[in-house]
Amino acid sequence: MVDFKAIRDEFPILDQEIHGHPLVYLDSAATSQKPECVIDAEANFYRTINAGVHRGAHELAARSTVAFEEARAKVAKLVGANAEEGQEEIVVTGGATAGLNLLATAFGNASLGRGGEAAKRFALKPGDEIVVSRAEHHSVLLPFQELAYRTGATFKWIDLTEDGRVRTDNLDEVITERTKVVAVTHVGNTTGAITNVAPIIKRAHEVGAVFILDACQSVPHLKVDFHALDVDFAAWSAHKMYGPTGVGFLYGKRDMLEALPPANFGGSMVELAYMDHEAQYMAPPARFEAGTQPVAQVVAAGVAAEWMMHIGLENIEAHERTITDELLKLGDIEGIRILGPRENKDRIGTVAFDVAGVHPHDVGQYIDAQGIAIRVGHHCAQPVHRHFGLYASNRASSGVYNSVDDAKALVDAAKGIRKFFEVE
Ligand SMILES: Cc1ncc(COP(=O)(O)O)c(C=O)c1O
Repeated sequence: MVDFKAIRDEFPILDQEIHGHPLVYLDSAATSQKPECVIDAEANFYRTINAGVHRGAHELAARSTVAFEEARAKVAKLVGANAEEGQEEIVVTGGATAGLNLLATAFGNASLGRGGEAAKRFALKPGDEIVVSRAEHHSVLLPFQELAYRTGATFKWIDLTEDGRVRTDNLDEVITERTKVVAVTHVGNTTGAITNVAPIIKRAHEVGAVFILDACQSVPHLKVDFHALDVDFAAWSAHKMYGPTGVGFLYGKRDMLEALPPANFGGSMVELAYMDHEAQYMAPPARFEAGTQPVAQVVAAGVAAEWMMHIGLENIEAHERTITDELLKLGDIEGIRILGPRENKDRIGTVAFDVAGVHPHDVGQYIDAQGIAIRVGHHCAQPVHRHFGLYASNRASSGVYNSVDDAKALVDAAKGIRKFFEVE
């Protein structure tokens, strides 16, 4: 039995009052809080081993390199990826957005003929298709829409069911022989719905398309195995999985990473550089890690990954499911509509809701006055909101440190919203 009360105590930030109430943090989909061990790991790195990695012959540089590569291996283990030297499948990025832009830029470079024969599998031209879903965060939508504009490819999307799930009943129509790239979110950041990715990945591979998974909202909450899922690439951020900001990871099947041309250029990614002819780039992951990396943050993200594995992803999932049960009671309140599946099945504890007649910012302030932190706005997913006929909503989202009582506090507070704003 995991003692989740003791786990909550590992988060110093939660031990405070906001507006005279004990803080209830229900905004983990925006960013998670950090346990003491992650905070310490980052600070201790600076206290004891800070040095540039993969360069310099001095002892600190060697220790720093070991810590950096060990962190990569821990993160790889969390998501079922390879970490052996020469077979690494995890690239360090500045976050999910940076990883997704890296891919879109690299595909654009391949479309210009960069990367030679091997990179042709990523090249796009007019008539080719890029497919996403309407459930995407803007950090998938916009880089791949831009890629379509730059290459002349056609931009298409898989639509949603009424309750906001990515449809899988018309995949043969949307993903065709012309489709070269399919990019879909694993879990909707507004709806909390877990996408049934298996048939989408199968269909993408049937037509020879590259499949990219946005794993931002799945890795922190579910046991995820990229090999088992058979995704070609996946991107996510450390700060949503109890790690630091400013760092994220891009998974790529080894053969995909080897074939992909670089997207960012600079130091530490080149074997040979010349004035008068083309440089020779390093093998992955270094080829994609130009410039000085956020080493302290990567080391701390490795500690976060280890910490999550120590609790057990199945335990985290089961614990958060109890909170989701309670959060879904928001939908029983008169005038409140949940944007996403109402039943606690194939979903996580991210529950967006609309309060009839009350602007989400007013709702957020009313809830905040009771010490409860939720997110308001469009959550960088405007097309999802349009699907529900809205521009913005409120969103509660759980983390491992939440209790059922936290969710109850929100549901109780929500019962008073419409009365307070006199729309009842
Ligand atoms: C589903 C999803 N994808 C991508 C992102 C972008 O992550 P980041 O802002 O950390 O780059 C987010 C963050 O909100 C997200 O929820």
